[in-house]
Amino acid sequence: YDIQVATVEDKEEILNFLRKFFFKDEPLNKFLGLIDEKTPTCLDLEDFSTKEIDNNLNLKAVHNGKIIGISLNGLLKRGYLEEEDDLHITDPKFVKIVRLLERVSKESDVFARFPDSDTAVTVKILSVNDAYRGQGIARELVNKTRELAKQIGAGFITVDCTSHFTALAVKKLGFELHYKLNYADHKENDEVVFKPELPHEAVTVYVQKI
Ligand code: ACO
Repeated sequence: YDIQVATVEDKEEILNFLRKFFFKDEPLNKFLGLIDEKTPTCLDLEDFSTKEIDNNLNLKAVHNGKIIGISLNGLLKRGYLEEEDDLHITDPKFVKIVRLLERVSKESDVFARFPDSDTAVTVKILSVNDAYRGQGIARELVNKTRELAKQIGAGFITVDCTSHFTALAVKKLGFELHYKLNYADHKENDEVVFKPELPHEAVTVYVQKI
């Protein structure tokens, strides 16, 4: 397979890929039953995934002309937490994920760890076709993301790992664990929000200086 920069022309194929895999099998999406026969997609997650499709930081792994994996990446700037983002989430399930990710961003405060850096690349969505998993494709996508981050002069790279397998992949690349929140400790109205299947016990943030 080949890893290439994805462009706006790939948007439809990427969305189809996400609908087929990520929306169904990312541990939190799966736990919530984000999509099913009656709800074939989640428009809020489509917007979240592709709103930065034209930033030249998104990667696709291609085999025989077909996408088999993607890394959808964003550019972060110091102070981003104070800015209002332009996503308008209405899906009652996806909003739970957004609230978790907001908590993780605030508590992990990655820029505090890198006082000399004002920009970073964040891996937002990692997804590999289930027939190709366990072969290091996710690791290679993150490795290439790191090269792109270096080319644009970003100070560090950061990954919010909702899946234990993502954490394993980035650990192998030498990323350091910066933050961890056990799903059992994330509650709303005194109730644990996510109980994904094992081994997905925590959301972690892994970082690496570039
Ligand atoms: N069972 C046990 N271990 C597994 C499995 C599995 N089903 N799948 C991957 N692993 C392990 C691998 O052995 C490897 O660990 P190791 O290097 O210590 O052996 C590690 O997880 C990662 O392996 P890769 O081969 O690089 O990862 P892969 O190409 O399989 O993709 C991914 C990993 C993207 C998480 C894939 O499983 C997937 O698409 N899952 C569903 C969507 C998802 O959860 N995405 C990540 C959410 S977090 C985020 O998006 C930033």
